[in-house]
Amino acid sequence: MKNSEVKIFITGGLGYIGTALAKEALKRGFDVYLYDSLVYKQNSKKVLREINGKNKNAELKFIKGDTRNIPLLRKSLEKWKPDFLFHFAELVGVYACDYNPKHTRAINFSASKNVLNLATKLNIPTIYNSTSSVYGNQKKAKLLKENDEIPAPTDNYCKNKLLMENHIEKLRKKYPNFKVIVLRPATVWGIGPRMRIELLPNHFTYSAIAKGRIRISEPQAYRAEMDIDDIVESYFAIMGKKSWKKPVYNVGSDNLKKIEVAEKIKSFIPCEIETIGNIGDMRNLQIDSTNFRNDFDWKPKNTFEGTIQKVAAWIKKNKKEMESTKFKGILNSPLHIWQKMI
Ligand SMILES: NC(=O)c1ccc[n+]([C@@H]2O[C@H](COP(=O)([O-])OP(=O)(O)OC[C@H]3O[C@@H](n4cnc5c(N)ncnc54)[C@H](O)[C@@H]3O)[C@@H](O)[C@H]2O)c1
Repeated sequence: MKNSEVKIFITGGLGYIGTALAKEALKRGFDVYLYDSLVYKQNSKKVLREINGKNKNAELKFIKGDTRNIPLLRKSLEKWKPDFLFHFAELVGVYACDYNPKHTRAINFSASKNVLNLATKLNIPTIYNSTSSVYGNQKKAKLLKENDEIPAPTDNYCKNKLLMENHIEKLRKKYPNFKVIVLRPATVWGIGPRMRIELLPNHFTYSAIAKGRIRISEPQAYRAEMDIDDIVESYFAIMGKKSWKKPVYNVGSDNLKKIEVAEKIKSFIPCEIETIGNIGDMRNLQIDSTNFRNDFDWKPKNTFEGTIQKVAAWIKKNKKEMESTKFKGILNSPLHIWQKMI
């Protein structure tokens, strides 16, 4: 989809997925407004420069704002009048959310609920990222469909995502004209303007390069994965369709056991694979993205092997900087915290 008339608004726009979407949208001539409270102390000037590139055709705006500040968000949305709202501003990841349950609920449920309520009032078509992790700990290995039963949430990240999915379902029933879609994306990995290195395949690649060793808990547990460029492409597919047939869609490319992820990485970067005991991450899931593929004429373009090579090259180039500044909070964490992130 290409359209200089289209305006998008991204909460959490200075995050991993938000920056990648913004960069591609500007390239395609979309006007982009980013709303982010810079939780990770991102260097906004630097990231915005990278997102904007040589773009001269489209408008890029950024405001430092928190989703708990609804008057500011309302003012920004009313002024900008976006055609689409992407709501990404949440605390992300099982470990981060379990570490701080109250704060997680305040951001990922209370504030997100207000963002969606506001989108309803202003009637802005909205894309909400839930997560494939809501499928939690599956006892049987099978590809999960959107209507399959969801077990009790394994952690606070999923618990709040499910609360949001329920809230959106209520809004949809109450306001049938409100256009909204919920995605349950696989773990996203690959390279973006604001890297997240703690995502499983990114993290394994980093460990292989920096430590010569990948540590895995629950090696036989499955995870769904997809390249960041493929999820970005899925958003253009969504914006390009007049109607969004189903309320909730899985979206992903691969379904691999953690040990398979590690072995694939090892085939490019010689390293040891070490299995460690259960560290409390219970997720074990595989997703079926057929509905999304069919309804949005989308399919992933990147291979797992191709993404390993891109990520490895990025890490080799940026390792020093990553370790000294940008990712201090993550990479310099004590081992027990590190372990929880894998
Ligand atoms: N990355 C993945 O693998 C993945 C997979 C499935 C779903 N998701 C979902 O996609 C969305 C984006 O994820 P991401 O990987 O880009 O995460 P991220 O942490 O990189 O981005 C989130 C952004 O939101 C901002 N933010 C957090 N709280 C805020 C608040 N209260 N107000 C304003 N800004 C706030 C942060 O500063 C950050 O820039 C999240 O909802 C996440 O749950 C991510």
